[in-house]
Parts: sequence; structure tokens; C-alpha cells
Amino acid sequence: MPLQLAPAGEADLPKILEVQYAAFAQDPINRLMFPVPTPPSTFEKSLDRARRDISNPDVAFMKVTETETGEIVSFAKWYIYKHQRPEEEWNKEEKRDWGEGTNVEVADTFFGLLTRNRRKFMAGEPYCCKLVTSRGRRICTKRCPAVLNLLDTLPAHQRRGAGTKLLRWCADVADQYGLPIYLEASPAGYHLYRKFGFEDVENIDMDLTRWGGVGTHRFACMIRPVHDSRVQPI
Ligand SMILES: CC(C)(COP(=O)(O)OP(=O)(O)OC[C@H]1O[C@@H](n2cnc3c(N)ncnc32)[C@H](O)[C@@H]1OP(=O)(O)O)[C@@H](O)C(=O)NCCC(=O)NCCS
Repeated sequence: MPLQLAPAGEADLPKILEVQYAAFAQDPINRLMFPVPTPPSTFEKSLDRARRDISNPDVAFMKVTETETGEIVSFAKWYIYKHQRPEEEWNKEEKRDWGEGTNVEVADTFFGLLTRNRRKFMAGEPYCCKLVTSRGRRICTKRCPAVLNLLDTLPAHQRRGAGTKLLRWCADVADQYGLPIYLEASPAGYHLYRKFGFEDVENIDMDLTRWGGVGTHRFACMIRPVHDSRVQPI
């Protein structure tokens, strides 16, 4: 059955959260952080956050549906910052209430690492301009970035091109506005991002044995440089 890409609306959010939980059900960090099944109160908290996010003009939720059934099988959430943001906006500390049953220490450690790296690479223009990719090339980001926050496909619908459609959408927006894209890649998404021209800038390693898990889990911070020919690398 063909897949269709479209913007998601508020009514789609409960299903989108279900896709998110299903896609990450086997992820080792997720399994340490969040209880399964998800307690209803935790689901409601996530839904409230998603509702706040979807009304933010900098946030784009895109969905992929089966054309015949209308079922949402995949979605992505992007922050697309077309304008410079003041430091008090990108550098503010947010204490999140993760909800019932969450291992708060693992969640704070993991999301703290992601936030610190995101700020390091993508905060203000001076940081962006200092950016050096793994190939030693400097990337000039005179424009503010797009940031991938979530990209998830239901396990039964993976490897059908839904993730590719969602990435293609943001790559086209980024090219239109001359923006770089930043993301933290899970091992499942890494190859797909490389195909879209993302380059490794740093790895985040988390030793899961500290919390009774197995081994070290690696997230790659990646950037797709500006593909706009009007913006020259420095
Ligand atoms: C990462 C993820 C979002 C990819 O979504 P997806 O819908 O499977 O993505 P696609 O189908 O477009 O591409 C996935 C792979 O299938 C391949 N593919 C795409 N269409 C295909 C088809 N019709 N037949 C066979 N393979 C296909 C792609 O080339 C890609 O291969 P690669 O992994 O070797 O690069 C999905 O695996 C997922 O949700 N994982 C768990 C959550 C997660 O880790 N999310 C990423 C967070 S950064």
C-alpha cells in the first residue's frame, strides 16, 4: 500500500505517541528509563507536552499514513528555527516531570547529555560558525538550524520508505531556507542519515551498566551542512 506524507494535527497526537512508544519499545535506554506498559498518567503528560509543542510556530509535526487505511505509521517532529534566538530562549534550564514509573536519574542523565551537546553545536551563531565536521571541514551556519527531535516508524512498517519521506521533507525545507540540520542519531537511524548527507560531529556514549543495563549505548550527533549554494562554507 502506498504511503502518504502530510502535516500532523492535534487530533493525530495520541496515535503519534503510540507510534513513538512502539518504535522505541526495544531501545535499551528507553527500556531503562520508562516503564512498560506506559501508565495512563504518563501518557497524558506526554500528550499535554505534544499539544503545547504543536502550537509552537517553530515546531513541525509531519506524519506518514497508509493511503487506504489512513493509519499513521510514522512521524517526525522538527524544530525549524529560521531566525536567531536570544540566549535566554536556547539556554534555559527545564526540569521535566517525566511521569509515574520513570527512572528519573537515567532520564535526566540521558536528556541532559543530549541538551548539552545540542547547545554546544547549535546554540548561537558564534558556536555554529566554529563547527568542524569529522572530515575537518568548517561549516558556516550564518542561518539558524533545523533540529530533528523525533523520527519514529511502527516496527511493522519499517524499511518501506516512511523515514525517507520524512527526512526528504525536512531536507527540502532546509535547502529552501539555507539551514543546516542537527540531530542525535540512534543506531537504527544512523545509516539513513548518512545517506541524506549528515556528517558525524561527536558521539554520546552512555554506560548502561551503571543502571543494570548491558554495555554502552552510542548516539551520534550529526549535522547535515547547508546545501544552499548561496551560502559558502568558510
Ligand atoms: C530509524 C527509523 C525511523 C527509520 O524509519 P523507516 O521508516 O524504517 O525508514 P526507511 O524505510 O525510509 O529506511 C530504513 C531503511 O530501509 C531501507 N528501505 C527504504 N525503503 C525500502 C524498501 N521499499 N524496501 C527495502 N528497504 C527499504 C532504507 O534504504 C533504509 O536502509 P538503511 O537503514 O540501510 O539505510 C526506524 O527504524 C525507527 O523508528 N527506529 C526506532 C526508533 C529510532 O531509533 N528512531 C530514530 C531516532 S534518531
